[in-house]
Amino acid sequence: MTLARLELRHPSGSTPILVGAGALAQVGDLAPFIDGRRAFVVTSTAVSTLQWHALEPLLERAGHYEVLEVPDGEEAKRLSVFEDLCRRMALAGGKRDSLVVGFGGGTVGDLAGFAAATFLRGIDFLLAPTTLLAQVDAAIGGKTGVNLPEAKNSVGAFHHPLVVVSDTRLLQTLPVAELRSGLVEIIKIAALANPDLLTDVERDFGRLLGADASVLARVVEQAAAAKIEIVESDPTEKGRRKLLNLGHTLGHALEAACAYRELRHGEAVGYGLLFVLRLAESRGLPRSDAGRLRGLLERLRLPALPPLAAGDLVERICRDKKVSENGVTWVLPARIGEARLVDDLPLDEVRAELETFLGDDRPGRP
Ligand SMILES: NC(=O)c1ccc[n+]([C@@H]2O[C@H](COP(=O)([O-])OP(=O)(O)OC[C@H]3O[C@@H](n4cnc5c(N)ncnc54)[C@H](O)[C@@H]3O)[C@@H](O)[C@H]2O)c1
Repeated sequence: MTLARLELRHPSGSTPILVGAGALAQVGDLAPFIDGRRAFVVTSTAVSTLQWHALEPLLERAGHYEVLEVPDGEEAKRLSVFEDLCRRMALAGGKRDSLVVGFGGGTVGDLAGFAAATFLRGIDFLLAPTTLLAQVDAAIGGKTGVNLPEAKNSVGAFHHPLVVVSDTRLLQTLPVAELRSGLVEIIKIAALANPDLLTDVERDFGRLLGADASVLARVVEQAAAAKIEIVESDPTEKGRRKLLNLGHTLGHALEAACAYRELRHGEAVGYGLLFVLRLAESRGLPRSDAGRLRGLLERLRLPALPPLAAGDLVERICRDKKVSENGVTWVLPARIGEARLVDDLPLDEVRAELETFLGDDRPGRP
């Protein structure tokens, strides 16, 4: 089995990112990060039931480990769960040299990373992402955090893992809806940074949704590499990294409006992407490029949106943590492989476009 070894350089050092089928079994490469340490494994029952065996060889190298289960999905990113997790680590004798191991999707990783960022003012952590979305996006870049009912990811910190192990074999048990959700983030990164990846996704769409191991390994590596390049150029999101929020301005508002229950993160971002295509088309995005992206997103068959009010969503957009005193910065595709930041979109235009979007031709509408 061949593994890709990527590297993310950041202000606090660098993080190796291992990608490929069987990456978690490469204990020789990973041992230096865990040998002899006290490890706190943050995971959900859903993940550990299906995939615990994949983590065991690595954990055998720890001096001692404890499993700290957290709720599945977005429920894991409640402040109360974060508090409970830190208290369990304190009670179990967690020290400055303890290691947090995040084993799960993006929700588990964001929570585990935030606990590692803040417990005893910051301890090491290792991420073993188990969803497509987390392998291509959430585990890369050092963003950690939890949600408030008012706004998504609004309490958090930058804290990079020691190492990320993206074992694409774990994706074999992923439900197809989660593969679709991860594919949205792949389409996003391809749309803004890698036209060749977009062509690959169009060609291999069926095999990706069928969890074809070789296609997944290749696409995860390409998407991760594209994200790494952008994060390295702007680690703390002062400028270019904001492009990664393509589709997230409306996406986060949709998630919060649905109380983080009715839509998966990728599904909400999928709608966010469809929405910005409309805004971008009237600002120069070629129709053919918009058509290609729309066509790909429509092949995903996003679930129908529940009834939502445009006014409420606009308020939520304005509350998002990404909004500065100068207003909302939108990320609009300029053409395939390129996007730009736009901060002068009149809110009235956004509201009117959103009313049309929610009311008429969105995919998934019964
Ligand atoms: N930190 C970042 O930079 C960043 C970037 C993008 C997204 N995110 C966050 O990531 C989260 C979404 O992550 P997600 O899509 O991975 O969702 P998730 O963590 O909720 O996982 C989705 C579902 O997949 C199940 N699952 C996980 N691994 C599995 C496996 N191998 N087999 C079978 N089932 C499995 C989980 O039990 C869960 O029910 C959101 O909270 C989002 O805000 C963070």
